Amino acid sequence: MSEAVWNKLQGLDKPTLKQLFDADSGRLDAFATRFDMGEEESSIGILFDWSKTHLDAAHVAAFEELAQVQDFAGRRAALFAGEIVNPTEGRAAEHTAQRGVGKEESVQLAAENHHRMAAIVEAIHRGAMGEVKHLIHVGIGGSALGPALAIDALAREGAMVDVHVVSNIDGCALEQAFAKCDPATTMLAVASKTFTTIETMTNADSVLIWLRENGVEDPYGRVVALTAAPEKAIEWGVDETRILPFSESVGGRYSLWSSIGFPVAMALGWPDFAEFLDGAAAMDVHFRDADGLANLPLRAAFADQYYTRLRGCQTRAVFAYDERMALLPDYLQQLEMESNGKQVTFDGKPVDGPTAPITWGGVGTDAQHAVFQLLHQGTNLVPVDFIASIAPGDDLAEDHHRILLSNCFAQGAALMAGKHSDDPARAYPGDRPSATILLDDLTPATFGALVAFHEHRTFANAVLLGINPFDQFGVELGKEIAKQIEQGGVEFDPSTTALLALAGIG
Ligand code: F6P
Repeated sequence: MSEAVWNKLQGLDKPTLKQLFDADSGRLDAFATRFDMGEEESSIGILFDWSKTHLDAAHVAAFEELAQVQDFAGRRAALFAGEIVNPTEGRAAEHTAQRGVGKEESVQLAAENHHRMAAIVEAIHRGAMGEVKHLIHVGIGGSALGPALAIDALAREGAMVDVHVVSNIDGCALEQAFAKCDPATTMLAVASKTFTTIETMTNADSVLIWLRENGVEDPYGRVVALTAAPEKAIEWGVDETRILPFSESVGGRYSLWSSIGFPVAMALGWPDFAEFLDGAAAMDVHFRDADGLANLPLRAAFADQYYTRLRGCQTRAVFAYDERMALLPDYLQQLEMESNGKQVTFDGKPVDGPTAPITWGGVGTDAQHAVFQLLHQGTNLVPVDFIASIAPGDDLAEDHHRILLSNCFAQGAALMAGKHSDDPARAYPGDRPSATILLDDLTPATFGALVAFHEHRTFANAVLLGINPFDQFGVELGKEIAKQIEQGGVEFDPSTTALLALAGIG
């Protein structure tokens, strides 16, 4: 049935952005929507401006039909009801319950876990583990990217504890953290949903050795474990009182809101972490209750599908015009590519078109002087998201922030308008799409809503595509082969064999 809707979508006219604005004086009202974080008029909010995308009434109507055919309402209800929405692993996906929105028992359990986490965070801040100035957080993928992003975005100045997120197995990463930490005042958070990931467990072992070698008599006494496998953490040596569990139904790349957010709470303090959860919850409620175009993550997914499927775009770029959100493209890469980089549908059949585009990006204005050439004049059409905050994050003269925002808005305008020149090398084709997400201010609440918006956008894309966004079997084969290499005795192709011999491995 979805094929018929896709055929309809393929057959629709594709007016240019200029034609769309010229034809509809209400376009801005229809496609640029303010999301308020509270009820009061003065409440802080976020503008989601999708008016510079090629969505028009006809496409929206057809995408709404696609959403119906793909049972968007049913799959969304199943998500919030804590049903099995990840059938290949037989699991629910209950990250929203961590924010207080979802199945009652799951919300209750998450609240209990958070209650305990808050008590531990506050006790450590009060000195229950002795003086703690530094926290080395070891984890990888979803157990690292979210905490690193949130701390960088929200705790730039005056973090309560100096946090170092270390993910890579490359010892250089850990050595860099050691160089900045005093072992006498350093604690270790081991973040791993499975508590088996080789990078994390190797890094954790090395931190214990470093602590011991530097005079800490009981390094295990400095450890907090953040995991959905508490029994494995106990086996590894962590005291039960310092294990912060979370539910198996919270996916790794959706786990920032669970105890994986421990270092964020350590850096920000519990009240700000709670505000971060509340901001995400506001977006959950919006996503759960709004329909069609009014639903902001679904609207974004309509545009995403338009570009990947109808215009053949293989990538989507995200530029944060805010140094504090420089890690956002990395975070979104995992969220979107690990979720929707799939080849089979929900029921295991081959997909009949492209799934997730490649997410990439950077920080403005830096990126303007590096990669924007291709966006303006290259042969690839790249839909771009710009993300910025009206309130500055710096205390310098106003010039900095004004110039930053002027550049951000100029890029969207330039991509759309283009510019004629008789010299082809100096001509800009224009009609290139962008969306702008403009925060009133970067606060824990707006940032929570922003991240949750992207989680729901990813889910909405998966529903429109008919795929399961919650498994990630694609990452397993490489891990298996790495293990075989470590164990030895297995034959590989001539290239791999030669590389191993050259490096003296195996
Ligand atoms: O290899 C992929 C992955 O499973 C991610 O999905 C996950 O976030 C990461 O590894 C880390 O896993 P864990 O939290 O179990 O250590």
